[in-house]
Amino acid sequence: PRVIYITRHGESEDNALGRIGGDASLAPAGVRYAQALARFIDRRHAEFGAEARGRTMEDDNSTITRERHPNNDDDDEPQPCEVWTSMLKRTMETVESFDPQRYHIKNIRSLNEIYAGRFEGMTYAEIARNFPDEYEARQLDKFYYRYPGIGGESYADVVLRLQQVIVELERIRHSVLLVTHRAMARTLLSYFMDIPTTHMPDMELPLGYVYACEPRPFGNFLRVWRYVP
Ligand code: G3H
Repeated sequence: PRVIYITRHGESEDNALGRIGGDASLAPAGVRYAQALARFIDRRHAEFGAEARGRTMEDDNSTITRERHPNNDDDDEPQPCEVWTSMLKRTMETVESFDPQRYHIKNIRSLNEIYAGRFEGMTYAEIARNFPDEYEARQLDKFYYRYPGIGGESYADVVLRLQQVIVELERIRHSVLLVTHRAMARTLLSYFMDIPTTHMPDMELPLGYVYACEPRPFGNFLRVWRYVP
């Protein structure tokens, strides 16, 4: 089956310091997650190949064998999986262990994290201390609150920014691993799993989780994995 995997980048140097936004590199723990993620996806896609092979006679004793037919050419191949990241270092570094021969890797600006405008690089505690009204306004209406400063965004802005990505995800037929950021992962998961926008900005989505949405006839089925260091 086709799967849409959604995960956050490995822990960055800014995550370790509690700073939002920015363009930091991965911290050592993040590099270890990146390596585990590549192994995880490799294994899943090898399994898909095995599943396809399992449909031959050796496994089920049937007398039906695979026909030589042009449509069957890639029948035994593992399912293709694209890997999409944002254009920030922490997601691009998270896919550095993926073999570019096996995975088509795309860096997409629309997958960048929600932009915190003049609060980029600050901690939540610094925002609360220095800009209590802004902090309070965001608590009251996190979906529509737009960060101040040039380019500052709200979750509502992010939903619009992700529309083209979602159209493309719906269009392509193979699996995709999205390596992105917390606000993006919330928005994508809420779209695929029908989570209302009232809940979406507060969804708990820690680092180190992989959410796999499998399209089914009447909605998507969600599987969740956790990285255990
Ligand atoms: O830097 C942005 C955060 O990852 C988004 O989380 O919307 O809960 O502040 P937040």
